[in-house]
Amino acid sequence: MVSGLKQRSEFVPLNTTRVDVKTFDCGKEPINRFLHRFAAKHMASSLSATFILPFQREGQSTTDKLGVAAYYTLANQSLSPENIPTNKSLPRFETPVVLLAQLGVNKQHQGQGLGAITLVSALQHAYSISTNPNAIPSFGVVLDAIDDEALDFYKSFDFFIEFSGNPKRLFVPMQSIVALL
Ligand SMILES: CC(C)(COP(=O)(O)OP(=O)(O)OC[C@H]1O[C@@H](n2cnc3c(N)ncnc32)[C@H](O)[C@@H]1OP(=O)(O)O)[C@@H](O)C(=O)NCCC(=O)NCCS
Repeated sequence: MVSGLKQRSEFVPLNTTRVDVKTFDCGKEPINRFLHRFAAKHMASSLSATFILPFQREGQSTTDKLGVAAYYTLANQSLSPENIPTNKSLPRFETPVVLLAQLGVNKQHQGQGLGAITLVSALQHAYSISTNPNAIPSFGVVLDAIDDEALDFYKSFDFFIEFSGNPKRLFVPMQSIVALL
């Protein structure tokens, strides 16, 4: 949990009985709407999984629900191998990847490094679920930047590779994520 940003701990699976998703505002309506309306439903339907960093809102009592400082959503996806920006030779069937479907930081916590922490946490998570001894592997992580501002944020990290013909779609090979662990 973060209080201000003084205390940090792990991202945890979204549980709407404990956190108030409706107060989350990252400044981008589609990213807010997903958390407000769909994240919990999609988890219940096994479509995607959302992880949040809770924080104690100013003036809240211990019985109040916590706020969401940041969140990310992961899902499974498969892509045609010819679209994936890699030098590796891939078989002709669909290639499994992890989709970083959503990522947002509450406006009051932006500009303090939490976006970077959230991104790295999401990538490390994708790596761990893809490489643990019982895992079904994925070739990498893919994301679609929502707009140019989001693209600039992602491109401030040096590990993303653009998809040709789709500059807002970015890829990180699973092997590159090892360096972030
Ligand atoms: C994009 C977002 C996650 C960034 O979060 P943040 O907490 O402000 O980012 P950080 O403080 O961790 O910044 C990390 C790095 O990214 C850079 N950065 C952040 N926002 C940026 C932007 N809009 N353009 C370019 N670089 C940006 C920072 O300068 C910083 O680089 P530095 O370490 O070299 O200084 C946040 O603004 C947000 O939630 N936006 C709305 C939702 C959104 O667009 N999500 C992406 C969906 S695809």
